[in-house]
Amino acid sequence: MTAPTVNRPADAGETLLTVEKLTLRFGGLTSLNEVDLTLRQGEILAVIGPNGAGKTSLFNCLTGVYVPQEGAIGFVKADGSTVQLVSGPARRRRSPKPHAVNKAGIARTFQNIRLFPALSAFENVKIAAETRQHTGPVGAMLGLPNARRNEKTSDAHTEELLRFVGLEAVENELASSLSYGVQRRLEIARALATGPRLLLLDEPAAGTNPTEKHELEQLIRRINAELGVTVLLIEHDMKLVMSVADRVTVLNFGKVIAEGSPEVVQRDPAVIEAYLGSAEEDTGGADEEPQP
Ligand SMILES: Nc1ncnc2c1ncn2[C@@H]1O[C@H](COP(=O)(O)OP(=O)(O)OP(=O)(O)O)[C@@H](O)[C@H]1O
Ligand SMILES: [Mg+2]
Repeated sequence: MTAPTVNRPADAGETLLTVEKLTLRFGGLTSLNEVDLTLRQGEILAVIGPNGAGKTSLFNCLTGVYVPQEGAIGFVKADGSTVQLVSGPARRRRSPKPHAVNKAGIARTFQNIRLFPALSAFENVKIAAETRQHTGPVGAMLGLPNARRNEKTSDAHTEELLRFVGLEAVENELASSLSYGVQRRLEIARALATGPRLLLLDEPAAGTNPTEKHELEQLIRRINAELGVTVLLIEHDMKLVMSVADRVTVLNFGKVIAEGSPEVVQRDPAVIEAYLGSAEEDTGGADEEPQP
């Protein structure tokens, strides 16, 4: 099958994302503490760490949901220019809005699935595909030729993506009627529909069964290899992390405590201690995403 058109990195291996000394505080709580992270084009980097370590907070800073108090985030766009995702002096720090970050080339899925439950699988993806089109509301209302052309393009792109993630058979089903694992794949298709260079996946395997986990593993590899999309993956499932990640960064209490190859990281005493320590306190609420 032909792969859907997503920006393929011209220069695999070049730096795509640079996070420097990123610090995010909520009152007295430091959710991210001088986090440094670099992502190269074409990589799959996993971010792991116990509950509350700051993983989702990092994604929220990367996508304009939270504005970190300190640090810098640079993202290289398809045209080679670098956009700063945090800027301005202390107290007047700004980040682009989430839709602008998406337009720059970063798409995400959420720890708690956020589909439109009353829309079909097709419609969920099509809405995202349409954000790539440039028909104004008036053009769409009047059915101008380029609006009709764009509509056809979005439909074709949506079909292609649903085929790519293996959901063409359920395209007319309501999102709410789909199993958890299928909804997670649909969310990935929706994120891909915006044509990202970087895909952020927040616990994509949470709540899925072993077969779905295996399919997800293959899907992440294909997204990376066939579409050329760089992937930043938050995941608690170590088997999945070890099998797909090129590198792993470990967060604990907002700090990077280890980074390196999956093999090296999983033997790191500081990582083992972080997980063993948190296992005693773990109340099983891993799926709750804190709301701003
Ligand atoms: N909007 C918020 N207001 C207050 N505290 C927050 C907010 N968002 C995150 N936090 C806090 O920041 C810390 C990191 O939370 P975060 O959700 O980033 O962790 P996580 O690593 O994604 O955990 P999990 O594995 O449970 O999803 C936690 O102590 C959390 O309570
Ligand atoms: Mg989280």
